[in-house]
Amino acid sequence: MRVLGIETSCDETAASVVALDGGSAPEILSNVVLSQIEEHAAFGGVVPEIAARAHVEALDGIVEAALTDSAVSLDEVDAVAATAGPGLVGGLIVGLMTAKAIAAAANKPLIAINHLEGHALTARLTEGLDFPYLLLLVSGGHTQIVAVRGVGDYQRWATTIDDALGEAFDKTAKMLGLPYPGGPNVEKAAVGGDASRFAFPRPMKGSAQPDFSFSGLKTAVRQAATAIAPLSDQDVADICASFQAAVADALGDRVARALARFRKEFPDKAKPALVVAGGVAANRTIKTTLEARCSKAGFAFVAPPQKLCTDNAAMIAWAGIERLRAGIADESAADFVPRSRWPLDSVSAPLVGSGRRGAKA
Ligand code: KG4
Ligand code: ZN
Repeated sequence: MRVLGIETSCDETAASVVALDGGSAPEILSNVVLSQIEEHAAFGGVVPEIAARAHVEALDGIVEAALTDSAVSLDEVDAVAATAGPGLVGGLIVGLMTAKAIAAAANKPLIAINHLEGHALTARLTEGLDFPYLLLLVSGGHTQIVAVRGVGDYQRWATTIDDALGEAFDKTAKMLGLPYPGGPNVEKAAVGGDASRFAFPRPMKGSAQPDFSFSGLKTAVRQAATAIAPLSDQDVADICASFQAAVADALGDRVARALARFRKEFPDKAKPALVVAGGVAANRTIKTTLEARCSKAGFAFVAPPQKLCTDNAAMIAWAGIERLRAGIADESAADFVPRSRWPLDSVSAPLVGSGRRGAKA
């Protein structure tokens, strides 16, 4: 089985071919990702209109490169899978329409993929993980804990009631005059900082409600920075280190709750695992905290390679293969309309304000 995947939901234009032959491990035959970071950097965040235009300009060439790299012709592909949501609608339209055109011209089925499903299933592509497992998705647009029970069978256990975690990093960086994207720059600035200098709040820590919240923390950072302005390099380092410590602590608390719930709901699962995905999962302080929480709770900590944790099309192609294999691919997706909002499970009610302000809301 060979599937061509296309991803354009935010600021990466990506295409990939993934293959699955018989009982052997799946293989990523090509994985081409063009980041638009430079085009958005001047604005301190992703500008939807710029993103959509950049996708239009780049996508043809990226798809061609993915096919060339894989040495698979369009004829040899079994299906075309494209991200159909959630994300910025301009980019989704570009990717999905392109996929529809390719599928129609080559007479191949088209599979409309939920971007979050791509993240959710990546650990099965990279580590062959068995269901069920827990997923922590922490990116610029999403902060969720999802119980991954099977292909197409997901249950969201927690989400953010305000900002996404990556967004909190990006906004903190902006406040401190650090460049976009904020996450890696906050992490870099935090080296040599005193994490105990500022006692920032640990949002939701100890709360029975499972969700995340980061906007109060952001406000606390702003107040601290304003109170001691102008900021020296050491002040910035101390604020970044203190911010990271607060985030890691709050995240660890939320995750520990989810691990306990997983134990209760899946008592027969011999080797439970927590999988992380999203750009924020690259953060060392956060990773170390999560690893410690997992080891304490007897969970394996699974972090797929970073380039497959952040947005890419291999995860979309793989989700297409998973759906084809499970016999649940909607191959009549030619009429599918892109969805800017598309929760992974239709059961969990959307929270007021959740993610609605993020670039990828
Ligand atoms: O998954 P991703 O590449 O794109 C989205 O789907 O959003 O995640 C990007 C987010 C940005 O908010 C960026 O600041 C954050 O991930 N990020 C980090 C780090 N590297 C990227 N946050 C904290 N620490 C990092 N090292
Ligand atoms: Zn993503």
